[in-house]
Amino acid sequence: MIKPHGGKLIKRIAEGEEKERLLREEGFELEISKEHSQEIKNISNGLFSPLEGFLTEKEALSVANTMRLPSGIAWTIPILLDVSEEEKNKIKGDKIFLTLNNKRIALLEIEDIYKIPKELIAEKVYGTLDPEHPGVARTMELKDYAVGGKITLIEAPPSKFPEYDLSPEETRAEFEKRGWEKIVGFQTRNVPHLGHEFVQKAALTVVDGLFINPIIGKKKKGDFKDEVILKAYEALKENYFPKDRIFLSILPTEMRYAGPREAIHHAIVRKNFGCTHFIVGRDHAGVGDYYHPYAAHEIFKEFPDLEIEPVIFRAFFYCKKCRAIASDKTCPHGPEHHINFAGKVMRKMITEGKQPPEDQMRPEVSKVIVSFDNPFVE
Ligand code: ADX
Repeated sequence: MIKPHGGKLIKRIAEGEEKERLLREEGFELEISKEHSQEIKNISNGLFSPLEGFLTEKEALSVANTMRLPSGIAWTIPILLDVSEEEKNKIKGDKIFLTLNNKRIALLEIEDIYKIPKELIAEKVYGTLDPEHPGVARTMELKDYAVGGKITLIEAPPSKFPEYDLSPEETRAEFEKRGWEKIVGFQTRNVPHLGHEFVQKAALTVVDGLFINPIIGKKKKGDFKDEVILKAYEALKENYFPKDRIFLSILPTEMRYAGPREAIHHAIVRKNFGCTHFIVGRDHAGVGDYYHPYAAHEIFKEFPDLEIEPVIFRAFFYCKKCRAIASDKTCPHGPEHHINFAGKVMRKMITEGKQPPEDQMRPEVSKVIVSFDNPFVE
């Protein structure tokens, strides 16, 4: 089985007496967001290996400027615990307890507190300072300071979909049980159209198993709601995949829309889940026209040390002449014969309560989607 990123699976979870002690111990408590609590869980169960906590200033600058941690290990997205000036002034001592809805989630051993270089991070991570970019907007909205340091999970935050919320230890055990050696991971923030399915099946043809791993968490307005994505995938899995070749579980984190940088991040966390390969298609983790459709392919050349192998696909479309799903590598016909999988068009149809055509989306999948009153994030 592939080794976790950095060589070992991080586990920072208090149990037994340590947990009891950390629940009782006196100390300053800081109320955090749901998004922070998800990242804490991801750090503590090793999904974000080799991270052991929220980034310190040195680490954040190194990640922003070089796409690597100070140790040289690849890491492209800063994972920050932001606090306001008021909160910063209240913090005393060298540790704090992080709470969600007033319940203790984790202990943080403070290494430093620093002003977040928001513009630098936005510019480096997203390649733009345009406030219309959802990732830039999120960065600029952060509170002004960050607390860096190792965390220890005390009590896991509640999960919205516990049956699909597996730790890297659990997915690795599942892959092992199935006897899969080569496993390809598929990132998604969407309901599946035929383009997605053909990318998945093309990759699955040359490996043992397909790991469908939708991001469940904060997304931009107009994206599909978490429950819609999961139900749509259940329908696809049920009707169009051999059950012993596909495994579905979630990645609880927020979408960042950072295009190529996020593609590397996505590959790293799938490696921690146990994947040996990772699908990167057209405009991976992109938004609007901010990134070249194949920028996420190119960036992998800068990371020969990643160990997880990118499986790269150019855009799939439906060709009326081939009467099949094709790509510009496999189809000789001109663009006048091609129908692209246009998310916008499908979204409009769904909004009007219509099912997208069968050469775009499986009827079982569209039926599930239109059964929701409002399938979109508001
Ligand atoms: S993403 O933001 O998570 O990348 P989405 O869920 O739409 O968005 O895409 C999931 C994966 O499928 C990404 O690797 C993306 O590049 C790929 N993909 C989506 N549509 C196509 C397509 N028409 N052709 C090839 N790859 C695609």
